[in-house]
Amino acid sequence: MALLLAQAVDAVKREDFKTCEQSAFCLRHRQFAEGIAETAQQPGLVGSDQPLRSASPYSVVPGSVRLDRHTLLALVEHKDDGVPLKFELTFLAGGTVRVRAQEEAPLAPRFDDTQRHTLRDEGSALPYASPESLQLSSTTANGAVVHTVNFTGEAAASSVRITEQPWSLTYLRNDKPVVQLNSKGFFKFEHLRKRPDGDDAGSADGEWEETFRTWTDSKPRGPESFGLDISFVGFEHVYGIPEHTSPLSLKPTRGGDKGGYDQPYRLYNLDVFEYEIDNPMALYGSIPLMLAHSAEATVGVLWLNAAETWVDVAHEKSSFIGSFFRRGSAGGEPTVSTHWISESGVLDVFLFPGPSVADTYRQYAAIVEQTPLPRDFALGYHQSRWNYLDEADVLTINDKMHEHDIPYDVVWLDIEHTDGKRYFTWDGAKFPNPVAMQERLGRDGHRVVTVVDPHVKRDTSYSVWSEANERGFFARTKDGSSLQGWCWPGDSSWVDLFNPDAAAWFSELYHLDRYNGSTRNLFIWNDMNEPAIFNGPEITMDKDALHDGGWEHRDVHNLYGMLYHKAAADGLRTRESPSLRPFVLSRSYFAGSQRYGAVWTGDNTADWEHLRASVPMVLSNNVAGMHFVGADVGGFFGNPDATLLTRWYQLGIWYPFFRAHAHIDTKRREPWLLGEPYLTHIREAVRERYRLLPYWYTLFREASLTGMPIARPMWMEFPAEKGLFAEDRAFMVGPAIMVVPVTDSDAMLPVDVVFPQQENWYDLHTHELYVGPARRQFSVGLADTLVFARGGSIVPTRERHRRSTALMRRDPFTLYVYVGRAGTAAGKLYVDDGESYGYASGAFIERDLSFANATLVSRPSARTAAGAAAAQASFAASMSGIRVERVVVVGLRNPLTQATVREGGEERTIDLHCGGSQVDAECVVRDPAVRIGGDWEIALA
Ligand code: GLC
Repeated sequence: MALLLAQAVDAVKREDFKTCEQSAFCLRHRQFAEGIAETAQQPGLVGSDQPLRSASPYSVVPGSVRLDRHTLLALVEHKDDGVPLKFELTFLAGGTVRVRAQEEAPLAPRFDDTQRHTLRDEGSALPYASPESLQLSSTTANGAVVHTVNFTGEAAASSVRITEQPWSLTYLRNDKPVVQLNSKGFFKFEHLRKRPDGDDAGSADGEWEETFRTWTDSKPRGPESFGLDISFVGFEHVYGIPEHTSPLSLKPTRGGDKGGYDQPYRLYNLDVFEYEIDNPMALYGSIPLMLAHSAEATVGVLWLNAAETWVDVAHEKSSFIGSFFRRGSAGGEPTVSTHWISESGVLDVFLFPGPSVADTYRQYAAIVEQTPLPRDFALGYHQSRWNYLDEADVLTINDKMHEHDIPYDVVWLDIEHTDGKRYFTWDGAKFPNPVAMQERLGRDGHRVVTVVDPHVKRDTSYSVWSEANERGFFARTKDGSSLQGWCWPGDSSWVDLFNPDAAAWFSELYHLDRYNGSTRNLFIWNDMNEPAIFNGPEITMDKDALHDGGWEHRDVHNLYGMLYHKAAADGLRTRESPSLRPFVLSRSYFAGSQRYGAVWTGDNTADWEHLRASVPMVLSNNVAGMHFVGADVGGFFGNPDATLLTRWYQLGIWYPFFRAHAHIDTKRREPWLLGEPYLTHIREAVRERYRLLPYWYTLFREASLTGMPIARPMWMEFPAEKGLFAEDRAFMVGPAIMVVPVTDSDAMLPVDVVFPQQENWYDLHTHELYVGPARRQFSVGLADTLVFARGGSIVPTRERHRRSTALMRRDPFTLYVYVGRAGTAAGKLYVDDGESYGYASGAFIERDLSFANATLVSRPSARTAAGAAAAQASFAASMSGIRVERVVVVGLRNPLTQATVREGGEERTIDLHCGGSQVDAECVVRDPAVRIGGDWEIALA
């Protein structure tokens, strides 16, 4: 935001953004919770399976509970207001439970389309549990009525227990409570109501009108917020709910813990200038998915709401309800209590019972589509800056990359490439021939990305504006006129993407015949789509602005960026036939955005603190299913010194999305400008990324099917190792590679590395063996990075140096076998054409690779067997010339002498080249020439 930059501020402008106290509904709920905690009459045991007696004023209406197929229905009422709330508990296959609530007969409909924009098939085809698998029973003990639904969860007998008075819900696995709702009594639901008489009635506490700085939110519908406590019983760590700059294991925001925050985590997509590290403030994206993890289990919660949401977190070691605000006596189970507060919409929560990490993601993936396979080039190196000036500048970047032997895939063009920030246009003086430029880059497989922001310059001669204006496609003010605001081009309007006609029209602007100067080689960057409005409240759209169907912006705010991202992805997908996979980067996002492309962590700063913070940020997003994410390599604001920039590349190659980017006011910093030795280190790093692209692509394939993160917190791979639960410096890339970034300027500072588990770990570069469990310190020079392969893994690579991903497509593979303590290893290799949807009909190769008894075996994966035979055969035929050119087996107990290759009924013996010691030998099979798509074995002896 250059406008603000002019004021030379060097820290986030906190006063631009609300605290919970300045957001009336958040304050009301926090105060309500404080009151409940104070008046808790009878402390009940958290974690006990006894009905709790919180001071909640809400109870189940006696006689209202019934089971209808896969849904349990109940009415809940506040003791004073007599407005019944309809609760629906839906049971899904695998043990997922969905809880929905709103007024039984609301005065007006509440916004309930978040599910349509987020869930698979618009929510129409959820995998419901079979009605026969559910049994409802009700009991009364000591006057307390309890309803229990028994069902089969993921490999465990599960039940949901509902107490009537006050209402609470406990999810039990094998009779042990795991997740509890309203056990603390913080549930509060503001039913829709008529405006009280008197002009300012209700506005004092912000119910009917609220002012923040110079903006007034008119709140025509009055209060309609709700809040609920969700407790994770037996857990000490919760993760997810990006986007924040907090540590990976979320710090408490209540309960007086030292080092905790005093504000809840906020989910409200915002353009936060020079954001601060270690802060629960809202940022550009919001994913209301939280995971809790203990040595015994993992569980998840999706709070499906796109309005402004706040989440308090308290760590409780004690056993009493009141302890949300104060630490009580020791005893009872550790519990993380959370309090979720949303401004509008309906209450809609999914409980994913796990119990393993993979189970939890399978349950999430069953309802929300995961990251689809990206274009292969999108996993390469992206070179961006605000701005590459003109065609000559772009071509120089291309030439210099080649000259310095740095592989890269994409050059990015920021807002200055346009004609006056009119997107879908070019500045004709600087880019007179964009098509020729793209073709020139395309010769070596390179691509261009251009930015398309959502603010539309109000200019009658700009066809995008005049068409949208004519067709009434802009979002409206509360009075019904086109909303106007200030952004990069000056006076602008914003397309209402909630209007399906407007969204369809907008996505067609990406078509080749609409977007002049675009080619199939051009891809898209969507920025400022929170949406950022420089003169709006909190730099965004007024909450009382209106969208299609009369919904207020308040209801849909966190969806806007996702719908904008979707329009671009749809546009690219439909611009050619047959469709190729789109690539679109977005700054703003919500649960489900992973379907449309990648995101990045916005405007970070070129300092060591931001380098460090990028790891928990990337991991938190991965925890929440946003796999394809990275931070601006080098830092957006400011000028990194050569050491920081080198270290940032060495880390950045391990972000799922790898892009260097910089602010317009910064010095040029393309790798060759740094000179030696930095250039060499950066080249080595980028080449490492390219070498491992087959492994990355295979991880994306897994993520697309299973929802498993790509950049993984250590605890995901070592779920029983408590010492790793808060680790947010070291992380895993897939199951096989541990990255310990160097995040300090002082190269001589030793770096701590924990090698988990009783397992072998091999330095990825030297293959030196470290045996876990162990903690070691490393002194690192600038050339050194700390990356380790986990024993027991097989990692596919391609080792020939090329200019781009496209030029590697027909390269042979090298397989690395990192032998584990048990003398075995396993891995996968997935290959397809890298661009089409042919994989959906079987045009892919997917191999299970295994190593045991000194023999490496390649077999089709079970998924291959399920694929369509014809497409499979033709893809396999097209790849029949692609072979494995080397196998490197690391960590053999003894050097061996020969390899026997068996493929297609034939057998050959070739020499083996071994080196190393008796305990850690490394053997290379040179050119076994087995086909990547075939069944074969290589036996070492
Ligand atoms: C925003 C983006 C940044 C971009 C700039 C100009 O600040 O976050 O990446 O360079 O706008 O478009």
